[in-house]
Amino acid sequence: LTVAVVWRGRVTNAELNALHAEGFDHSIRDDDWEGELARYSLGWVVARNQGLLVGFVNVAWDGGVHAFLLDTVVAVSHRGRGVGRALVQAACRGGLRVAPRGLGEPPDGFYLKTCGFTPTPAGLYALR
Ligand SMILES: CC(C)(COP(=O)(O)OP(=O)(O)OC[C@H]1O[C@@H](n2cnc3c(N)ncnc32)[C@H](O)[C@@H]1OP(=O)(O)O)[C@@H](O)C(=O)NCCC(=O)NCCS
Repeated sequence: LTVAVVWRGRVTNAELNALHAEGFDHSIRDDDWEGELARYSLGWVVARNQGLLVGFVNVAWDGGVHAFLLDTVVAVSHRGRGVGRALVQAACRGGLRVAPRGLGEPPDGFYLKTCGFTPTPAGLYALR
């Protein structure tokens, strides 16, 4: 399996709307991915097999030192072969180049107790 994994690789709205619908099990939407990525993302990673889009992850950020991964998705036909892992690794490498500072632990007591948030599983990856 030869999959090209590219930080900020070219990708179209139609490709991402189709992959997202398959990956997250909903009907195909008409979202403006290209516009949103350009406006709100630190970067993104595109995986292609012989030109066909088979994976994607979005690295959203606050414009400063905090970034987080969203919409990690691999085409059903290509799962279980390391594409997801390669996407996340490339996202972390790309983020490190652009914003090379670590992420801090959120003060859970504040969000969970004071503000009434509910915890959900998520992971932190220290860039440095
Ligand atoms: C999650 C996802 C991106 C993984 O892509 P992938 O290319 O199959 O991942 P890799 O091949 O690098 O790693 C596979 C390993 O990840 C783990 N894994 C994958 N999906 C998992 C899940 N839903 N729950 C727990 N572990 C999971 C397993 O350990 C798996 O190993 P296995 O194939 O031996 O069982 C893919 O399954 C997907 O697109 N899912 C639908 C969208 C989604 O839920 N995205 C994540 C939330 S944003």
